[in-house]
Amino acid sequence: MKKTLLLILSVLMFFSCASDDSSPEIGVTVYRSDDSFISEVRNEIARAGGDSVPVRILSADNKQQKQNEQIEDFIESGAAAIIVNSVDRTASGVIIEKCMKNDVPLVFFNREPVKDDMAKWDKVYYVGARAEDSGRMAGEILADYWLSHPEADKNGDGALQFVIIKGETGHQDTELRTEYFTEALTERGILLEKLHEDTAMWNRDLGRDVMNGFLSYSGETIEAVFANNDDMALGAIEALKDAGYFMNGKYMPVIGIDATPAGRRALRDGTLLGTVFNDAENQGRAAYNIARELAEGRVPTSESIGYELTDSRYVWIPYTTMLKSDLI
Ligand code: BGC
Ligand code: CA
Repeated sequence: MKKTLLLILSVLMFFSCASDDSSPEIGVTVYRSDDSFISEVRNEIARAGGDSVPVRILSADNKQQKQNEQIEDFIESGAAAIIVNSVDRTASGVIIEKCMKNDVPLVFFNREPVKDDMAKWDKVYYVGARAEDSGRMAGEILADYWLSHPEADKNGDGALQFVIIKGETGHQDTELRTEYFTEALTERGILLEKLHEDTAMWNRDLGRDVMNGFLSYSGETIEAVFANNDDMALGAIEALKDAGYFMNGKYMPVIGIDATPAGRRALRDGTLLGTVFNDAENQGRAAYNIARELAEGRVPTSESIGYELTDSRYVWIPYTTMLKSDLI
Protein backbone atom coordinates (compact mmCIF):
# COMPACT_ATOMS: atom_id res chain seq x y z
CA MET A 1 0.00 0.00 0.00
CA LYS A 2 2.74 2.40 1.07
CA LYS A 3 4.75 1.48 -2.01
CA THR A 4 1.80 2.10 -4.33
CA LEU A 5 1.17 5.47 -2.72
CA LEU A 6 4.80 6.42 -3.16
CA LEU A 7 4.66 5.36 -6.77
CA ILE A 8 1.51 7.40 -7.43
CA LEU A 9 3.09 10.35 -5.65
CA SER A 10 6.26 10.21 -7.69
CA VAL A 11 4.31 9.85 -10.94
CA LEU A 12 2.23 12.88 -9.97
CA MET A 13 5.35 14.86 -9.10
CA PHE A 14 6.92 13.94 -12.42
CA PHE A 15 3.93 15.21 -14.35
CA SER A 16 3.57 18.37 -12.34
CA CYS A 17 7.24 19.14 -12.97
CA ALA A 18 6.88 18.40 -16.65
CA SER A 19 3.82 20.60 -17.06
CA ASP A 20 5.40 23.32 -14.98
CA ASP A 21 8.31 23.34 -17.39
CA SER A 22 9.34 26.97 -17.16
CA SER A 23 12.57 26.61 -19.13
CA PRO A 24 12.50 29.38 -21.74
CA GLU A 25 12.84 28.92 -25.49
CA ILE A 26 14.12 31.33 -28.12
CA GLY A 27 12.24 31.54 -31.44
CA VAL A 28 14.34 32.26 -34.52
CA THR A 29 13.18 33.12 -38.03
CA VAL A 30 15.49 33.71 -41.02
CA TYR A 31 14.46 35.29 -44.33
CA ARG A 32 15.27 32.14 -46.31
CA SER A 33 17.18 28.95 -45.69
CA ASP A 34 19.21 28.73 -48.91
CA ASP A 35 21.27 31.89 -48.45
CA SER A 36 24.90 30.81 -47.88
CA PHE A 37 25.83 33.54 -45.43
CA ILE A 38 22.59 33.35 -43.45
CA SER A 39 22.96 29.55 -43.22
CA GLU A 40 26.30 30.04 -41.51
CA VAL A 41 24.78 32.46 -38.98
CA ARG A 42 21.86 30.11 -38.42
CA ASN A 43 24.18 27.15 -37.81
CA GLU A 44 26.01 29.11 -35.16
CA ILE A 45 22.74 30.08 -33.43
CA ALA A 46 21.72 26.41 -33.46
CA ARG A 47 25.06 25.41 -31.97
CA ALA A 48 24.77 28.03 -29.23
CA GLY A 49 21.22 26.86 -28.46
CA GLY A 50 22.56 23.39 -27.80
CA ASP A 51 24.60 24.67 -24.85
CA SER A 52 22.04 26.76 -23.01
CA VAL A 53 18.54 28.16 -23.68
CA PRO A 54 17.18 26.07 -26.60
CA VAL A 55 16.22 27.61 -29.94
CA ARG A 56 13.49 26.84 -32.47
CA ILE A 57 14.58 27.93 -35.95
CA LEU A 58 12.23 28.52 -38.90
CA SER A 59 12.66 29.86 -42.42
CA ALA A 60 10.24 32.44 -43.83
CA ASP A 61 10.86 31.28 -47.41
CA ASN A 62 11.34 34.90 -48.40
CA LYS A 63 7.73 35.81 -47.48
CA GLN A 64 7.17 38.59 -44.95
CA GLN A 65 3.60 37.45 -44.30
CA LYS A 66 4.86 33.99 -43.39
CA GLN A 67 7.49 35.47 -41.09
CA ASN A 68 4.86 37.59 -39.30
CA GLU A 69 2.84 34.44 -38.68
CA GLN A 70 5.88 32.62 -37.36
CA ILE A 71 6.49 35.45 -34.93
CA GLU A 72 2.86 35.36 -33.75
CA ASP A 73 3.27 31.66 -33.30
CA PHE A 74 6.40 32.07 -31.21
CA ILE A 75 4.58 34.59 -29.02
CA GLU A 76 1.57 32.30 -28.56
CA SER A 77 3.72 29.32 -27.66
CA GLY A 78 5.45 31.34 -24.96
CA ALA A 79 8.86 32.10 -26.49
CA ALA A 80 10.97 34.10 -24.04
CA ALA A 81 12.80 36.03 -26.79
CA ILE A 82 12.79 36.12 -30.59
CA ILE A 83 15.66 36.48 -33.08
CA VAL A 84 14.65 37.87 -36.48
CA ASN A 85 16.45 38.11 -39.82
CA SER A 86 13.65 39.99 -41.52
CA VAL A 87 12.49 39.35 -45.07
CA ASP A 88 11.81 43.04 -45.60
CA ARG A 89 13.54 45.29 -43.12
CA THR A 90 10.86 47.94 -43.47
CA ALA A 91 8.47 45.45 -41.82
CA SER A 92 10.46 45.64 -38.57
CA GLY A 93 8.15 48.30 -37.12
CA VAL A 94 5.11 46.01 -37.19
CA ILE A 95 7.13 43.15 -35.67
CA ILE A 96 8.43 45.39 -32.89
CA GLU A 97 4.92 46.60 -32.02
CA LYS A 98 3.60 43.07 -31.86
CA CYS A 99 6.39 41.89 -29.58
CA MET A 100 6.15 44.99 -27.42
CA LYS A 101 2.43 44.37 -26.83
CA ASN A 102 3.27 40.87 -25.59
CA ASP A 103 6.50 41.85 -23.86
CA VAL A 104 8.65 39.42 -25.84
CA PRO A 105 12.13 40.94 -26.43
CA LEU A 106 13.59 40.99 -29.92
CA VAL A 107 17.00 40.69 -31.54
CA PHE A 108 17.31 41.53 -35.24
CA PHE A 109 20.36 40.58 -37.26
CA ASN A 110 21.74 41.20 -40.76
CA ARG A 111 18.81 43.36 -41.90
CA GLU A 112 18.90 46.52 -39.92
CA PRO A 113 15.64 48.16 -38.84
CA VAL A 114 15.59 51.91 -39.43
CA LYS A 115 16.31 54.14 -36.42
CA ASP A 116 12.66 55.17 -35.99
CA ASP A 117 11.65 51.53 -35.58
CA MET A 118 14.50 50.77 -33.17
CA ALA A 119 13.31 53.75 -31.10
CA LYS A 120 9.85 52.21 -30.58
CA TRP A 121 10.90 49.97 -27.70
CA ASP A 122 13.99 49.45 -25.58
CA LYS A 123 13.87 45.65 -25.68
CA VAL A 124 14.95 45.61 -29.32
CA TYR A 125 18.54 44.89 -30.32
CA TYR A 126 20.47 44.68 -33.58
CA VAL A 127 23.52 42.63 -34.50
CA GLY A 128 25.26 43.32 -37.79
CA ALA A 129 28.33 44.63 -39.52
CA ARG A 130 29.00 48.13 -40.83
CA ALA A 131 28.12 47.89 -44.51
CA GLU A 132 30.12 50.99 -45.44
CA ASP A 133 33.32 49.36 -44.13
CA SER A 134 32.87 46.32 -46.37
CA GLY A 135 32.28 48.52 -49.41
CA ARG A 136 35.36 50.57 -48.67
CA MET A 137 37.50 47.46 -48.14
CA ALA A 138 36.30 45.93 -51.41
CA GLY A 139 37.17 49.19 -53.19
CA GLU A 140 40.64 49.20 -51.62
CA ILE A 141 41.30 45.68 -52.92
CA LEU A 142 40.53 46.76 -56.47
CA ALA A 143 42.45 50.05 -56.09
CA ASP A 144 45.57 48.20 -54.92
CA TYR A 145 45.31 45.82 -57.84
CA TRP A 146 44.64 48.52 -60.44
CA LEU A 147 47.47 50.77 -59.29
CA SER A 148 50.00 47.93 -59.33
CA HIS A 149 48.86 46.32 -62.63
CA PRO A 150 49.02 48.79 -65.54
CA GLU A 151 47.91 46.01 -67.90
CA ALA A 152 44.55 45.97 -66.05
CA ASP A 153 43.61 49.03 -68.12
CA LYS A 154 42.83 46.86 -71.10
CA ASN A 155 41.85 49.64 -73.50
CA GLY A 156 44.56 51.95 -72.17
CA ASP A 157 42.23 54.93 -71.70
CA GLY A 158 43.32 55.62 -68.13
CA ALA A 159 39.86 54.86 -66.74
CA LEU A 160 38.58 51.76 -65.00
CA GLN A 161 35.54 50.32 -66.79
CA PHE A 162 33.67 48.16 -64.27
CA VAL A 163 30.34 46.45 -63.56
CA ILE A 164 28.46 45.87 -60.30
CA ILE A 165 26.27 42.92 -59.40
CA LYS A 166 24.06 44.07 -56.56
CA GLY A 167 22.22 42.36 -53.72
CA GLU A 168 18.54 42.93 -52.97
CA THR A 169 17.37 46.47 -53.53
CA GLY A 170 16.72 48.29 -50.25
CA HIS A 171 19.05 46.09 -48.19
CA GLN A 172 21.52 48.34 -46.35
CA ASP A 173 24.40 46.11 -47.50
CA THR A 174 23.46 46.56 -51.16
CA GLU A 175 23.20 50.32 -51.07
CA LEU A 176 26.15 51.08 -48.81
CA ARG A 177 28.58 48.51 -50.23
CA THR A 178 27.99 49.87 -53.71
CA GLU A 179 28.35 53.49 -52.65
CA TYR A 180 31.50 53.08 -50.57
CA PHE A 181 33.17 50.78 -53.08
CA THR A 182 33.18 53.51 -55.72
CA GLU A 183 34.04 56.17 -53.15
CA ALA A 184 37.16 54.25 -52.06
CA LEU A 185 38.38 53.98 -55.65
CA THR A 186 37.70 57.63 -56.38
CA GLU A 187 39.57 58.64 -53.23
CA ARG A 188 42.60 56.80 -54.55
CA GLY A 189 42.47 59.02 -57.62
CA ILE A 190 41.14 56.34 -59.97
CA LEU A 191 38.96 57.45 -62.85
CA LEU A 192 35.85 55.29 -62.94
CA GLU A 193 33.39 54.38 -65.62
CA LYS A 194 30.52 52.17 -64.53
CA LEU A 195 29.33 50.18 -67.53
CA HIS A 196 26.45 48.26 -65.92
CA GLU A 197 24.79 47.47 -62.63
CA ASP A 198 21.99 45.07 -61.88
CA THR A 199 20.64 43.05 -58.96
CA ALA A 200 21.15 39.30 -58.63
CA MET A 201 19.33 39.07 -55.25
CA TRP A 202 22.42 37.70 -53.41
CA ASN A 203 22.07 34.55 -55.51
CA ARG A 204 24.76 32.60 -57.35
CA ASP A 205 22.69 31.43 -60.34
CA LEU A 206 21.30 34.91 -60.88
CA GLY A 207 24.83 36.28 -60.56
CA ARG A 208 25.86 34.09 -63.46
CA ASP A 209 22.89 35.20 -65.55
CA VAL A 210 23.50 38.88 -64.84
CA MET A 211 27.20 38.52 -65.72
CA ASN A 212 26.32 36.73 -68.93
CA GLY A 213 24.13 39.70 -69.80
CA PHE A 214 26.92 42.19 -69.06
CA LEU A 215 29.34 40.15 -71.17
CA SER A 216 27.00 40.06 -74.10
CA TYR A 217 26.54 43.87 -73.98
CA SER A 218 30.08 44.93 -73.21
CA GLY A 219 32.32 41.86 -73.51
CA GLU A 220 35.94 42.86 -73.77
CA THR A 221 35.46 46.40 -72.48
CA ILE A 222 34.79 45.22 -68.90
CA GLU A 223 37.92 45.61 -66.75
CA ALA A 224 36.62 44.61 -63.29
CA VAL A 225 33.62 43.07 -61.52
CA PHE A 226 32.35 43.90 -58.04
CA ALA A 227 29.61 41.71 -56.60
CA ASN A 228 27.91 42.67 -53.33
CA ASN A 229 28.52 39.13 -52.00
CA ASP A 230 30.63 36.05 -52.74
CA ASP A 231 27.78 33.93 -54.06
CA MET A 232 27.06 36.40 -56.85
CA ALA A 233 30.82 36.79 -57.49
CA LEU A 234 31.06 33.01 -57.86
CA GLY A 235 28.18 33.07 -60.33
CA ALA A 236 29.98 35.80 -62.28
CA ILE A 237 33.16 33.70 -62.28
CA GLU A 238 31.22 30.81 -63.83
CA ALA A 239 30.01 33.10 -66.61
CA LEU A 240 33.54 34.45 -67.12
CA LYS A 241 34.96 30.93 -67.32
CA ASP A 242 32.41 30.10 -70.01
CA ALA A 243 33.64 33.17 -71.86
CA GLY A 244 37.23 31.94 -71.73
CA TYR A 245 38.51 33.88 -68.73
CA PHE A 246 40.97 32.46 -66.17
CA MET A 247 42.79 30.50 -68.85
CA ASN A 248 45.43 31.23 -71.50
CA GLY A 249 46.33 34.48 -69.77
CA LYS A 250 42.83 35.95 -69.98
CA TYR A 251 42.00 37.48 -66.60
CA MET A 252 39.30 39.53 -64.91
CA PRO A 253 39.58 40.95 -61.38
CA VAL A 254 36.46 39.87 -59.44
CA ILE A 255 35.75 41.05 -55.90
CA GLY A 256 33.12 39.72 -53.51
CA ILE A 257 32.15 40.04 -49.85
CA ASP A 258 31.62 37.40 -47.10
CA ALA A 259 34.62 35.01 -47.41
CA THR A 260 32.27 32.02 -47.31
CA PRO A 261 33.95 28.60 -47.62
CA ALA A 262 33.23 28.61 -51.39
CA GLY A 263 34.53 32.17 -51.63
CA ARG A 264 37.78 31.10 -49.93
CA ARG A 265 38.19 28.25 -52.37
CA ALA A 266 37.88 30.71 -55.25
CA LEU A 267 40.47 32.96 -53.59
CA ARG A 268 42.80 29.99 -53.33
CA ASP A 269 42.39 28.99 -56.99
CA GLY A 270 42.90 32.60 -58.08
CA THR A 271 39.52 33.26 -59.69
CA LEU A 272 38.36 35.61 -56.92
CA LEU A 273 40.82 38.50 -56.52
CA GLY A 274 39.66 39.41 -53.05
CA THR A 275 36.77 39.42 -50.61
CA VAL A 276 35.83 40.88 -47.23
CA PHE A 277 35.26 38.57 -44.30
CA ASN A 278 31.72 38.92 -42.94
CA ASP A 279 31.93 37.11 -39.61
CA ALA A 280 28.84 34.88 -39.54
CA GLU A 281 29.92 32.95 -36.49
CA ASN A 282 30.32 35.98 -34.27
CA GLN A 283 27.13 37.57 -35.56
CA GLY A 284 25.22 34.40 -34.71
CA ARG A 285 26.87 34.05 -31.33
CA ALA A 286 26.25 37.69 -30.40
CA ALA A 287 22.59 37.53 -31.44
CA TYR A 288 22.12 34.36 -29.42
CA ASN A 289 23.90 35.69 -26.34
CA ILE A 290 21.73 38.81 -26.30
CA ALA A 291 18.56 36.73 -26.73
CA ARG A 292 19.65 34.38 -23.95
CA GLU A 293 20.12 37.24 -21.51
CA LEU A 294 16.72 38.69 -22.44
CA ALA A 295 15.04 35.27 -22.25
CA GLU A 296 16.33 34.85 -18.73
CA GLY A 297 15.03 38.26 -17.73
CA ARG A 298 18.29 40.18 -17.60
CA VAL A 299 19.29 43.39 -19.34
CA PRO A 300 22.19 42.45 -21.66
CA THR A 301 25.54 44.10 -20.96
CA SER A 302 28.79 43.98 -22.92
CA GLU A 303 30.22 41.77 -20.18
CA SER A 304 27.32 39.31 -20.06
CA ILE A 305 27.12 38.86 -23.84
CA GLY A 306 30.86 38.97 -24.52
CA TYR A 307 30.50 41.60 -27.27
CA GLU A 308 30.65 45.35 -27.07
CA LEU A 309 27.24 47.00 -27.03
CA THR A 310 27.12 50.35 -28.83
CA ASP A 311 24.34 52.83 -27.98
CA SER A 312 23.09 50.15 -25.54
CA ARG A 313 21.36 48.10 -28.23
CA TYR A 314 23.73 47.50 -31.17
CA VAL A 315 26.52 45.00 -31.65
CA TRP A 316 28.78 45.66 -34.64
CA ILE A 317 30.99 42.78 -35.72
CA PRO A 318 34.00 44.06 -37.70
CA TYR A 319 34.75 43.15 -41.32
CA THR A 320 38.27 42.24 -42.46
CA THR A 321 39.90 42.30 -45.90
CA MET A 322 40.66 38.85 -47.22
CA LEU A 323 43.15 38.10 -50.00
CA LYS A 324 44.76 34.87 -51.13
CA SER A 325 47.80 35.74 -49.03
CA ASP A 326 45.57 35.90 -45.92
CA LEU A 327 44.51 32.26 -46.27
CA ILE A 328 46.23 29.82 -43.99
C1 BGC B 1 25.61 38.99 -46.95
C2 BGC B 1 24.97 38.28 -48.11
C3 BGC B 1 23.60 37.79 -47.71
C4 BGC B 1 22.76 38.91 -47.16
C5 BGC B 1 21.41 38.40 -46.69
C6 BGC B 1 24.69 40.08 -46.44
O1 BGC B 1 25.25 40.67 -45.32
O2 BGC B 1 26.85 39.55 -47.33
O3 BGC B 1 25.75 37.21 -48.54
O4 BGC B 1 22.97 37.20 -48.83
O5 BGC B 1 23.43 39.54 -46.12
O6 BGC B 1 20.66 39.39 -46.07
CA1 CA C 1 40.13 51.31 -69.26
